[in-house]
Amino acid sequence: MPDELARVYGALGFGDRVIYSNFVESIDGVVTLGSKPSAGSEISGRNQADRFLMGLLRACADAVLLGAGTLRATPGHQWTPEHIFPDFADAFAELRSVLGRKPRPRLVLLTASGDVPVSHPAVIAGATIVTTTAGAAALKDRLPDSCDLVALGAGGALDMEQVVMEMRDRGYEVILTEGGPHVAGDLVGANLLDEAFVTISPVVAGRDRETRLGMVAGVELLPARGLWARLLSARRHGDFLFLRYGLKR
Ligand SMILES: NC(=O)c1ccc[n+]([C@@H]2O[C@H](COP(=O)([O-])OP(=O)(O)OC[C@H]3O[C@@H](n4cnc5c(N)ncnc54)[C@H](OP(=O)(O)O)[C@@H]3O)[C@@H](O)[C@H]2O)c1
Repeated sequence: MPDELARVYGALGFGDRVIYSNFVESIDGVVTLGSKPSAGSEISGRNQADRFLMGLLRACADAVLLGAGTLRATPGHQWTPEHIFPDFADAFAELRSVLGRKPRPRLVLLTASGDVPVSHPAVIAGATIVTTTAGAAALKDRLPDSCDLVALGAGGALDMEQVVMEMRDRGYEVILTEGGPHVAGDLVGANLLDEAFVTISPVVAGRDRETRLGMVAGVELLPARGLWARLLSARRHGDFLFLRYGLKR
């Protein structure tokens, strides 16, 4: 890592072929806030150390895998290192160059429905959209030229192993997912998620009428199939905790 980054975080490295997630959650395990946009920023209180880690993890990745739900809930965002932490843009670019990565991670979007806001800046900047034949039909004449479209299934949820195989075929070996919970659930359910970075923000979010998800949705593991993790590292910045878990069984 460039010294500037190592001074802040210490050592960080990944295997040649890896899928890792990054979520910020409240003390009580909340990662989404119903229909409120940009839940992550709200839950972290735009904490600078969390934003730095988001940038660093993006800077390591060939691709960022995202569900269309997160894209729709985060207007104006770009899933690049420099967007989330501009002060370190040069150091992130240097890290990508040292790692042999392209200048920016490719955004890979999952949608069954094809309900993708095509004027979202992250879509305009370029994305690979992995969808069903119905989703592809809905999108094909509307997407900017910077995007490519992959149809993998007739309808309903895509098979995550197939999605990952498609990404590998395109040369995306080091894959970050920033969710949301349904994509994380699909990956965990298929035993594809190698590592989880979890930031615990010192806030209690609560739950009442609206649905507030934890970092994994759409799959139940405990009590029969609980996925017990190994703690790979723990860092503290002020009242925030930054945890890295190994998840593979
Ligand atoms: N706190 C954090 O760190 C954090 C991180 C990320 C996201 N979030 C929050 O999470 C919320 C969104 O949650 P979510 O679980 O709905 O988001 P999500 O997993 O990003 O999106 C779900 C959508 O992605 C598509 N999708 C997911 N898996 C698929 C599959 N196997 N095949 C085909 N399409 C698939 C579907 O899109 P279609 O509906 O288009 O078919 C599905 O409705 C937002 O509020 C966001 O702010 C929080």
